Amino acid sequence: MTSRYSEVYASWQNNPEGFWMEQAESIDWFTKPTTAFDPDQGVYGGWYPDGITNTCHNCLDRHVAAGRGEQAALIYDSPIIGAKRTISYAAMLAEVEAFAGAMSDKGVGKGDRVVIYMPMVPEAIVAMLACARIGAIHSVVFGGFAAHELATRIEDSHAKLIVSASCGIEPGRIVAYKPLLDSAIEQSRHKPDATIILQRDEHRCELTPGRDEDYAALMEANAGRKIACTPVLATDPLYILYTSGTTGQPKGVVRDNGGHMAALYWSMHAIYGLKPGEVFWAASDIGWVVGHSYIVYGPLLHGNTTIVFEGKPVGTPDAGTFWRVISEHKVAVLFTAPTAFRAIRKEDPQGSLIGQYDLSGYRALFLAGERADPDTIQWAEKVLNVPVIDHWWQTETGWTIAGNPMGLGLLPVKYGSPAVAMPGYDVQVLDDAGHPVPAGTLGNIVVKLPLPPGCLPTLWNAEKRFQDAYLAEFPGYYKTADAGFIDDDGYLFIMARTDDIINVAGHRLSTGGMEEAVSGHPDVVECAVIGIADAMKGQIPAGFIVINNGHGRSDEDVEKEVVKLVRDQIGPVAAFKTVMVVKRLPKTRSGKILRATMQKIADGQDWKMPATIDDPGVLDEILEVLTKRGIAKKGD
Ligand code: COA
Ligand code: AMP
Repeated sequence: MTSRYSEVYASWQNNPEGFWMEQAESIDWFTKPTTAFDPDQGVYGGWYPDGITNTCHNCLDRHVAAGRGEQAALIYDSPIIGAKRTISYAAMLAEVEAFAGAMSDKGVGKGDRVVIYMPMVPEAIVAMLACARIGAIHSVVFGGFAAHELATRIEDSHAKLIVSASCGIEPGRIVAYKPLLDSAIEQSRHKPDATIILQRDEHRCELTPGRDEDYAALMEANAGRKIACTPVLATDPLYILYTSGTTGQPKGVVRDNGGHMAALYWSMHAIYGLKPGEVFWAASDIGWVVGHSYIVYGPLLHGNTTIVFEGKPVGTPDAGTFWRVISEHKVAVLFTAPTAFRAIRKEDPQGSLIGQYDLSGYRALFLAGERADPDTIQWAEKVLNVPVIDHWWQTETGWTIAGNPMGLGLLPVKYGSPAVAMPGYDVQVLDDAGHPVPAGTLGNIVVKLPLPPGCLPTLWNAEKRFQDAYLAEFPGYYKTADAGFIDDDGYLFIMARTDDIINVAGHRLSTGGMEEAVSGHPDVVECAVIGIADAMKGQIPAGFIVINNGHGRSDEDVEKEVVKLVRDQIGPVAAFKTVMVVKRLPKTRSGKILRATMQKIADGQDWKMPATIDDPGVLDEILEVLTKRGIAKKGD
């Protein structure tokens, strides 16, 4: 099939508003928008400014009304606890109405914020959709974050209600949520009015009288209730998703209702090549943007069946788990992060477990969240014998900026490139002064404003930070904070972040945030955290600390305490396990820490002595320490 990509991209270029008005036809509106875009609503403008709609209606009610009631909306599969459950669209609607009723009784309504801190269970998705139904704004917090991170989000969003669970389950350990939740509420200056807790049999918790309510009891009491969908403006917020910024204070990415639906709906058929009724699996977590867009909203908007998988690619119970899920639930398309495939390959280098399963209905693998290294792509192509498609996007955009659209016909693959810009995105590469660079030249990747529907209109309660972080540096463009180049054929290559964000097993983390936590240790005088290359996770953080030794404790003791501090403050997901005491940190004469040079040394890359370095001897000391730890080799 020849690709229709160029034709479709050109149709958007020639008439962007017409293109998006056409996509708006795919969703139900209480009041149809008469215009696509209002440039006066902020710098990005508002998409479908006079449209009135409801996202939950489009995810559930419309499908039930159209005869999809008995189709599975969601299949929960937890190899970790050995549970499976299929929920039809009709049953999902009933659960969502019951929970929406329970939330309304607690005074939660349009515009109120609800924090959801839950593991990968269907009830988390019920809670998300119930918020959408009543116009409340959810903010899901990933279970691998510690109490302090949860507190930051409760406080910033001023959550009226928190929905949580008694526990999450990681291989070999139960993560008790209640102590984390209690500590977070205590740390937050803003207190929620109420909390609802899902008790899981694997570890039940004691409910706090007067505050906590039992999820199951509420559902029973509200069963059968009919709760109408609250009409919201297309531009009203659907959710806030906090993501790492350059400081310990996360950025609250806001997502709207109308533009988000139009963009995701388009992506389901044009990018992922799906037909309604087929099974789609995003093996991620609802705590991340991939989970929001492609475990919950995209598949349900499009009438697909979504898989909610509580497990890992390896160890639950083995590296064949993904193939078992694909064959058992007839998955047509799988989306995950490259790190998951690196983990599987490490356990089963020949992909021999694949042969045990019938993957005849399986069509494609999509990868995102971090750079897809050609080696991993080629291995996946070989063992799966389906197209393996890299695509590039961010929490901020909510859907693909650049990809290879399967539904329009695949373009030739260039390994190391997520292919081409999607309609809606005019992607350019600029030098630091804001001038376009020639094809093949590395620079700052930016997107010409306005961004398409689905992308963030602002940051929650932080319009100035939004302007400063994304719009100020290159006027007229959105700064992606990724560096890379575009080749002569228009293919993008994403090479690195231009800020201090690192990607650990597909999880986005801020080294600046980690430095803030590390500096909290009383013995740490100065510190630097960098991301160093890791064969499985892509990157892992490594900390360098200068300590005062007035307390007479060993370097090892302080290092251990710093590791614990980051785990307690940010969470286990930071995978912060490497800390090295050094005498001094390498700096420029103006006092800037030379993190990029340290990273190159650690990764064994070529590096040059920075002309501005204050004392070249410090880099030798760093190399010495890294060599001793087996991280860098001398002579590299
Ligand atoms: N709740 C509590 N703790 C969690 C958690 C959660 N939801 N998710 C992860 N953690 C913990 C893990 O238990 C681990 O703790 P440990 O230090 O005690 O071992 C730590 O956080 C790091 O977890 P993770 O990044 O998952 O690493 P891992 O070594 O356990 O597994 C992979 C490695 C590659 C198997 C795993 O990262 C993976 O499945 N990645 C898929 C990528 C993905 O889903 N990306 C999302 C964006 S698409
Ligand atoms: P997140 O907001 O967690 O989705 O992380 C977004 C960042 O992950 C991007 O800015 C990139 O740095 C990186 N990223 C995501 N997808 C890709 C990809 N396909 N190739 C390279 N980097 C990617």
